[in-house]
Amino acid sequence: MAPTAVQKPADKTAEREIVDALGRRSIVLVGMMGAGKSSIGRRLATRLGIPFVDADTEIENAAGMTIPEIFERHGEPYFRAGEARVIARLLDGGPQVLATGGGAVMDQKTRDLIHIKGISVWLKADVEVLMKRTKRRNDRPLAEKIKDLLPAREPLYAQSDIVVQSREEPHDTIVDEIIAEIPKHLRTEEAP
Ligand code: S3P
Repeated sequence: MAPTAVQKPADKTAEREIVDALGRRSIVLVGMMGAGKSSIGRRLATRLGIPFVDADTEIENAAGMTIPEIFERHGEPYFRAGEARVIARLLDGGPQVLATGGGAVMDQKTRDLIHIKGISVWLKADVEVLMKRTKRRNDRPLAEKIKDLLPAREPLYAQSDIVVQSREEPHDTIVDEIIAEIPKHLRTEEAP
């Protein structure tokens, strides 16, 4: 009789090291609408065994309105003020994976807090990919403006600790890349 293959447990060392090194910090996904922050963030959190939090959903819950309703009734500045407040509160809730809305990094204070309380990951995607992905839904008031918004935003996204290219690959491939990149970043933090 052929010997039964012994199932080797998945090697979770990298995941465990990342969670230990995070302490109370968050992994903060930044990038443009359509970059895949929520879907990739959810999978990343599952892999690491920590909670996933979506800032847009939290803003909607706090306001009792959808994002298009907030924009329509109160305007963008009101949305941005709420967004900054909600992200500041959420950043106290680590360890977690936090997906931020595409415009969150435009706020200097939010950028500073992300830097202090998180490890930031820019999910970078080509404009064609972003436009294709956002065309399918009408829940983003600024989706039509992606091309106009990118030049001001990309230099800020580029300040992130880690940059991973989001592309037409299985989400798990992108998650694998993030999990491979985080320890490299952590080693730069340790360097004297
Ligand atoms: C916005 C992106 C959206 C949401 C709002 C504004 C932006 O989030 O916060 O519609 O300014 O880019 P996603 O990036 O999760 O789509």
